[in-house]
Amino acid sequence: MKLYFIGLILMIISCSAAIAQPKGVHLSWNGEKEVKTATTMAITWLNEKQDESRVQYGMDNKKLISAKASVKYSNDLKAYVSKATLTNLKPATYYYYKVGSDEAGWSQLFRFRTGPVVGDKSKIVVGVWSDTQNNGGNYNFEQTDSIVKEMEKNAFYFTIHNGDIVENGSVVKSWKDLFNVTEPISANHPFMSVTGNHDVVNNDSSVNFQKPFPVFYDIVNLPGNELNYSYDYGNTHFIAINSGYSQGAEIKKKPLFFEAGSEEYRWLEDDLKKAKQNKKINWIILYSHYPVYSWGVSQILTWQAHLKPLIDKYEIDLVLSGHRHAYERHKAVRGSEIFEQKDFHVYNNPKGTVYITNGSSGGHLQGVGGWDLPTMVFTPKVNSYNFAMMTIEGNKINYHVFDKEGKEIDYFELVKTTK
Ligand SMILES: [Fe+2]
Repeated sequence: MKLYFIGLILMIISCSAAIAQPKGVHLSWNGEKEVKTATTMAITWLNEKQDESRVQYGMDNKKLISAKASVKYSNDLKAYVSKATLTNLKPATYYYYKVGSDEAGWSQLFRFRTGPVVGDKSKIVVGVWSDTQNNGGNYNFEQTDSIVKEMEKNAFYFTIHNGDIVENGSVVKSWKDLFNVTEPISANHPFMSVTGNHDVVNNDSSVNFQKPFPVFYDIVNLPGNELNYSYDYGNTHFIAINSGYSQGAEIKKKPLFFEAGSEEYRWLEDDLKKAKQNKKINWIILYSHYPVYSWGVSQILTWQAHLKPLIDKYEIDLVLSGHRHAYERHKAVRGSEIFEQKDFHVYNNPKGTVYITNGSSGGHLQGVGGWDLPTMVFTPKVNSYNFAMMTIEGNKINYHVFDKEGKEIDYFELVKTTK
């Protein structure tokens, strides 16, 4: 009897510790004006209890030092959100960390790697995923969970997420669930996302049309205004942009983002100018939810018309997108010129920009098609959930696309021996 009571007490203690444990731990980079991928790391997590939240971190997991987090109660999330930014870290270095407090409980030990110094041409690997939205067949992120397990088998440094993070951005539980399911990836690799049409207000009569819901700002921790931002990592300049609900805006004749002369257009042009002039940068990669080239209704001509002049003028190398729940690889395009390749898998010093659609990492699969498009190089005849691993090393990019069982769907190489 006595043993039974001791067991019961131990069970209650362990249950309350489990409840209190920080949840949805994820990494990112932030910064108002400058994003320091080599020397900083932002960490965000949720707690049910108010506490003096801290990060304990260090290169040696037995010698962790402590940093304080800022804690804010989120009415939407009904949780305390802790955000901490570690600074003065060593470049290209692995750090161990855990988050929490003695009073509210601690997370498990995670690990991240800081970026290389800007201009470093050493090999980097970036995970690419998109459309993790919890709709039919993925209501509890079960497909996304399979993708997470498959992605984890690869060695990579951070992920790009091309939007439609959740099915309905107003459903707070979805954001919580998403960051719990993706924690094995995002607590160990910065999660650098863009918003998709499902993440923002899609009611065109709302004054907040195409803007994220308040919960978005509570739970993400990204650079600048968190919708349009850029950062350097090694020898590559990454630009993340918000394409809002381009499709709905075009149908309802509402303004689409990045119209020539708009605030975001001027920001993008200024950003591209600087990146182009930066001698440490070899590659410019832009990612947005809506594709610039796509098969079917995912092709939004106004969106294409807004972006193409800047993509062409500043010779962006690669544009990555989601939205269409399929994989599509397009030929290099500049202006109205479409460039043929000699080798199916190689873009050798292409005179144009290569466009890729890489959805979906959970959202229900869409019909196949697109082989008749003049820009199309490859789209599978059978659709599958997918993600990609992109390796950038010096003047070469290798891009491998996998399904949720780890089977390769496509690969290509992008080579640039002249800047
Ligand atoms: Fe979408």
